[in-house]
Amino acid sequence: MTNRGQFNSRLGFILAAAGSAVGLGNIWKFPFEVGAGGGAAFVLVYLFFAFVLCFPVMVAELAIGRKTQRNPVGAIKALGHQRWVGIGYLGLASGFLILSFYTIVAAWAFGYFVEILLGNFEIGNHFTAFTTNWLKIGLFSIVFMGGTAYVVSQGVGGGIERAAKILMPILLFFVLFLVLYALTLPHALTGIEFYLRPDFSKINGEVIYKALGQAFFSLSLGMGALITYGSYVSRDTDIVRAAAVITLTDVSIAFLAGLMMFPFVAYMTEGDLLQMREVSGGAGFIFMTLPGIFQSFGGLLGVIIGATFFLLLTFAAFTSTISLLEVPTAYMVDELKIERKRSTWIVAGLIYLVGIPSMLSTGSVDFFTQFITFPGTGTLNFMDFVGLLANDTFLPLGGLLISIFTAYVWRRNNFAAEIAVGAGKGGFLSMYVGFAISYVCPVILGVITLVTICNNFLGVDISGGLF
Ligand code: TRP
Repeated sequence: MTNRGQFNSRLGFILAAAGSAVGLGNIWKFPFEVGAGGGAAFVLVYLFFAFVLCFPVMVAELAIGRKTQRNPVGAIKALGHQRWVGIGYLGLASGFLILSFYTIVAAWAFGYFVEILLGNFEIGNHFTAFTTNWLKIGLFSIVFMGGTAYVVSQGVGGGIERAAKILMPILLFFVLFLVLYALTLPHALTGIEFYLRPDFSKINGEVIYKALGQAFFSLSLGMGALITYGSYVSRDTDIVRAAAVITLTDVSIAFLAGLMMFPFVAYMTEGDLLQMREVSGGAGFIFMTLPGIFQSFGGLLGVIIGATFFLLLTFAAFTSTISLLEVPTAYMVDELKIERKRSTWIVAGLIYLVGIPSMLSTGSVDFFTQFITFPGTGTLNFMDFVGLLANDTFLPLGGLLISIFTAYVWRRNNFAAEIAVGAGKGGFLSMYVGFAISYVCPVILGVITLVTICNNFLGVDISGGLF
């Protein structure tokens, strides 16, 4: 076997996997879904799915990876189930597509960091001008993708693990710093109350569906990213406990992001509930409203808080893009026997090209801005189309197939045996994981995949108005 590399330490592995999980999803999307979905009521639904549904899928991915020491395609083959190898290819496709547009949003964050560092707080009022400035975005995204490729090209221990060990502590420090600062703002507690007051009347089918999709995406599941990371884990690691730690870390950072964001919202609206509801609804908040808020802190303080925030967002995205790029890279290294450095730069270049239409889809080019219409979605731009395809459809479908594969093709006893390696005798969590992967995950992920396809692509509401 060629030398594929390995994580040097358990902590390094956990930081890298947590780095994959903690991303734009946590900081950009989570707080606003909480705001729109009934505050603490949404958080409860989210936590429920993270632990009951996502955690077992995470253990399954890690187990498949560690058992076979292969990328998702090679892993299925190595287990002797050539006919199921489509799961691996679906994962590759998801990674390719997600990374192609994720890089663009990451480039916005990176660009905002630079702008605010230069004192340009007006950038929030020129969001569209900024995102349609393809020269700028092209440049920022090349730098971002280049950085990602550089880290991945340096290998698992010397690249991915090292980057995670440096960036994750900084990221945590930034989050805590910003939360503490946000809590000192006027009306901070009103914001927190708005964030966390449970409003169970908001919980309907759509909110449940959102919470589920968010949990799944946030934990980097469904495309074999964690199969790939699992393939670099040593056999004395307890993967059940590792998965629990990764899940907890991801959930905690998302939660903290809310504690930082809602005081900002409350500060801006002077604690006016109605306005808070309006402002916090859109994902545009971060790119359009926040810079103005930072400006109002005045001078140097505004630059420090604003630049820290967008650097945090950039770092969070960076450790996630590393994991997305690692999947196709590992495939090239393992299956096509192409040397790692070369593999990395080839894949990164290809994905960059695939991302260009997304880059041009926020107003630069009409064809990509109004790309396609499905009965259930209205007109989508190219970026949203790729998101619908990859995030909303391929990921739950991939998770469904991984669950079925683990429980019924690879089989539950083999899965249990792999979990036991490094864990000693299985406790309650291991038992639950075996049960969930056989029954809970296939059913819930099956329903989610079906609902997504029928509601969005076909415009057929199969849930009787529930979703
Ligand atoms: N989890 C990351 C986020 O929350 C995104 C991400 C990275 C991802 N790797 C992934 C999502 C693999 C799905 C699959 O932003």
